[in-house]
Amino acid sequence: MWDFDEPVAREGTDCIKYDRRQETFGSKDVIPMWVADMDFKCPDFVVESLRNRTEHEIFGYSYRPPEYYLSIINWIKSRHNWKVEKEWISFCPGVVPALNFCTLGFTEPGDSIIVQPPVYFPFFSAAESHGRKLIYNKLIETDGKWSIDFDSLVSAITTKTKMIIISNPHNPVGRVWSLAELNNLADICIEKNILIISDEIHCDLILPGFIHTPMASLSEKIASKTVTLIAPSKTFNLAGLSTSSVIIPDPELRKSFNRVIDNLHIGGGNIFGTVASIAAYTHGEKWLGKLMLYIDDNIEYVIDYCRNMIPEIIPVKPEATYMIWLDCRKFQMPGKELQNFFIQKAGVGMNEGSTFGPGGEGFMRMNIGTTHNTIKKAMEQIEKAVSELR
Ligand SMILES: Cc1ncc(COP(=O)(O)O)c(C=O)c1O
Repeated sequence: MWDFDEPVAREGTDCIKYDRRQETFGSKDVIPMWVADMDFKCPDFVVESLRNRTEHEIFGYSYRPPEYYLSIINWIKSRHNWKVEKEWISFCPGVVPALNFCTLGFTEPGDSIIVQPPVYFPFFSAAESHGRKLIYNKLIETDGKWSIDFDSLVSAITTKTKMIIISNPHNPVGRVWSLAELNNLADICIEKNILIISDEIHCDLILPGFIHTPMASLSEKIASKTVTLIAPSKTFNLAGLSTSSVIIPDPELRKSFNRVIDNLHIGGGNIFGTVASIAAYTHGEKWLGKLMLYIDDNIEYVIDYCRNMIPEIIPVKPEATYMIWLDCRKFQMPGKELQNFFIQKAGVGMNEGSTFGPGGEGFMRMNIGTTHNTIKKAMEQIEKAVSELR
């Protein structure tokens, strides 16, 4: 059961990761290790629930039943020890849309929003495309460990700063923020009256030895200044079902957010997202346990392989997610050249680091949510390309 080694042909399914390779990399032949979904089938119990629903053959207007909310509440309580109330949960058809609605609901044009690059790049447009000023508080890297620069954060804050968007855990550097880091961040935000948007979409993809803490679970005071974004999409490979949750304990903030959703009439969602979410959060525990062991093996493989065969590339060991942040600064290639090297010489399509903002230069993000065999092939191709540079 749950054979993550099973290759699944994804070509010809209009899937971005495979079917957009030509447009993105200029070649259909690269091994796609970029956009953040996995090459594994989503769990059988999720597929089964979708099949059962299609049997009814009518897909009219629908609402989210109590089990939908209950499955989210129980999942968060049992996995992350955070007690969420039903009325705190709003639906949103995706976490990126939610980031944008947060900007619209909680800030005004001309306000500034802090992000901490290198970070998932839609954070930038969530501020800038609505006329808000984007402020970078760069993460700091010391001997391969990335952390928050609290001194520069404090000095970046002005009276115009209304919001900070954090990636918790952090994509692409793979950090699971510690209790001390989260508390520190929260203290600053409370003192300066800044709203925290905590994007926790990767919170279930925690690797052995680490514990995720939802920002809002730290205290009631912090919860009242925090909006948490979660989804079953990364965890269970359901990104195409566009179903996510926005958790807002504070009633006034909730009203502002829901006003945006209601005014735009986008709260309806879709039947399949609801059904899949219930199945995933209700039955997903064991499947996820197995998935994370498989991901962890892939990570160990890449780290060992680089250490033994490609010492020029230094992987940053992730604490969460199925992404590895590869330090390729030894090649001393500018972004475009680095990207082209991996595409044209190694035949591997990854995300180039500078697209994640300042601090990402010289890095590549590798998606290892795929079979061991694919990882092995990619690493061998990279090794061969690098050996030609030596
Ligand atoms: C930090 C982060 N937030 C959001 C998303 C995407 O969210 P959605 O597909 O729900 O818009 C991703 C996908 O990679 C991500 O890494």
